[in-house]
Amino acid sequence: TTVIVQNAGKNPVHRHTRDLRMEPGSREHLVATSLEAAKDELARGLEGLLGREVPVSTKPGQRVPDGAVVVGTPETSQLVRRHAPSEELRTVGDEGYLIRSVSRGRHDFTVIAANTEIGALYGTFAFLRRMQTQQPITGLDVTEKPRIANRHLNYWETERLYAGNDATGTGGLNGENGAVFNFAATGESADRNLPVILDRYLVVARALASVGVNGITINNVNADNAYLTREYVEQTAALADALRPYGIRVALSVKYTAPTDERFAPDTLTEDQLDPYGAEFRDWWHRKAEHIRDAIPDFTGFTVKANSEGQPGPQDFGYDHGDGANGIAAALAPLGMTVYWRTFVYNADVDDDRLKRAYLEFGHIDDEPQDDGSTGRFADNVFLQTKNGPLDFQAREPFNPMFGRLENTNQALELQITQEYTGQNTMLCYLGPMWQEVLRTDTYTTDEHGELLDDRLVGHIVDGTAQGHPDTAIVGVANLGNADNLTGHHFSQANLFAFGRLAWDWTLDSERIATDWVRMTWSNDDRIVDTIVRMMMGSWEALVSYQTPLGVAHQFADGEHYEPYPSQWFMKDDWSPVYYNKADSAGLGYDRSPTGSDFTAQYFPTLAERYGDIESTPENLLMWFHHVPWDHRMDNGRIFWEELVYRYQMGVQYVTWMRETWDSLKPSLDARRWAEVRDKLVQHEIDAADWRDTNVEYWQEFSGREIPVDDGPLS
Ligand code: GCU
Repeated sequence: TTVIVQNAGKNPVHRHTRDLRMEPGSREHLVATSLEAAKDELARGLEGLLGREVPVSTKPGQRVPDGAVVVGTPETSQLVRRHAPSEELRTVGDEGYLIRSVSRGRHDFTVIAANTEIGALYGTFAFLRRMQTQQPITGLDVTEKPRIANRHLNYWETERLYAGNDATGTGGLNGENGAVFNFAATGESADRNLPVILDRYLVVARALASVGVNGITINNVNADNAYLTREYVEQTAALADALRPYGIRVALSVKYTAPTDERFAPDTLTEDQLDPYGAEFRDWWHRKAEHIRDAIPDFTGFTVKANSEGQPGPQDFGYDHGDGANGIAAALAPLGMTVYWRTFVYNADVDDDRLKRAYLEFGHIDDEPQDDGSTGRFADNVFLQTKNGPLDFQAREPFNPMFGRLENTNQALELQITQEYTGQNTMLCYLGPMWQEVLRTDTYTTDEHGELLDDRLVGHIVDGTAQGHPDTAIVGVANLGNADNLTGHHFSQANLFAFGRLAWDWTLDSERIATDWVRMTWSNDDRIVDTIVRMMMGSWEALVSYQTPLGVAHQFADGEHYEPYPSQWFMKDDWSPVYYNKADSAGLGYDRSPTGSDFTAQYFPTLAERYGDIESTPENLLMWFHHVPWDHRMDNGRIFWEELVYRYQMGVQYVTWMRETWDSLKPSLDARRWAEVRDKLVQHEIDAADWRDTNVEYWQEFSGREIPVDDGPLS
């Protein structure tokens, strides 16, 4: 085969204003265009897959040899102009692609065509994926484009990162050691500072492009103002240059009160100048954004965590979230930038039930009639960025009623790829099925006459089709660090992979995605693929079972969020496991039905009714909505207490089965990675058993019942 990428270097995207250079001894190299990236990926990928070097040609005007792979856009490639149907190309937009098998005389070849170079790169990765997963590459007639426009990572580099290469192998709460990008390092490591590009930055860029992620927000959501200083902006600009050929645009998390930071003197404001309607506030943010834009022409905007967990926000100055978000949005609008305003707020004054608080703060702003006759106060360049569930990235939550209930505002779905609450870098937990469950949950949206509307799954809200929003976004909290395998646990890579694939097309099946990943990562032997996929597919449900079965929320010890501590009570009640479990002699769980907090009323009527009644609530969400009597009869005939204990036990047994199954794969997998995963599974099993024992013992103090003895096969 031959790779033909005509004019691969024609449209350089580097700005060349900074002295980007690779770290000494690097194995990666910088490219200046997306087509160069595509060419390199093909050359590298085909060589790896075929076991021999593949000739590459970038010359215009040439004959296409049999078996060639042609990549390009109509602008760069006369072969694409000739062989890719332009009417179909028109349908795939700025990021989509066509992959076509073409026959000319006795020559068969493949054309990967797109309207843009980045589309061509995405098509290239898709083609390589087909080869790597041993799908047919003849007779191809592929037409693809993403369903969601902004597919972003939020990179919380100093928090909740479990992918570090430090002594403990974790980033943990002190993730600095695990950061994927090195900003402003001092002392000996200063020569590893941006603009020095470390190999792993490009490995990350390639990995993200391969699954279609097109944006990354640098800086923790608990933002450090340093990222707005000149020194940091220069470094971010260097990073943006390196990422640009891979289609990855950069954004920053910022603090609402950044204008008052002395580091920006003399350009600082006083607190009483933080009026979001005032010129001082808006001009300040405009100046900052303009300064960043000068260094990073395709900078996308800011993410703001305001009035949440101690972060400052407009409410500290007498304004609401709409005022604050719109103030910054107005400053960014002339520059074509966007504000991602997070809705993770839970001010205890709003309601006793933490789950109700976000909607109570945001819903009425979305509903507010405007002077121009429209509804909803949030500006067009604001996304409300909302976690999938109403609490905080628990392993299974009911979906957040904001999806569906908010109608007039752009909404971004935030998912946590980094496994803060799902086993960190110790537990094997494939999150594809969880995200699939969220995206495919029906909101049962009704119209103003109470009639049910079609196509109102959470995914339809997020992809804009349900409510007709033109701009759409999905955000994953990243799990990338400086560990050799980038994610700490080898299997955590599957979560990044699944996030990207679902962000591109949320209707994909998570088992299909897992199968692709296993074939690309471990083996193409069907027996091994089936075994590993089977392990992965049940791993999330198992974790739910041994950690928080049947909807008992958040039983984590404070701080690290790894171990159980069901009896813990803090000064802050809504951080306490006991606030959620409400264990007493009557039963377990939080009554959010009409007899309790009535959180269920935030859903549309079908679900409000379903979740409001203990008999119709799905059992896997039971304790999110009800204080369940110990004797409550479950669908399978067991009483609740027994079912609860069985669930914990089943979860642990699954982990035992995974460990044993993995042992059986030893002869078939590469020794080092096999052993690294085996060590994790050994610890995983111990920790899963700890979750079971700690919780069951504690619940038993309230239920006063015997631990049921297993008298038959577990269902
Ligand atoms: C969780 C997490 C915090 C994070 C917060 C957020 O509470 O534990 O580390 O800052 O989510 O999403 O803002």
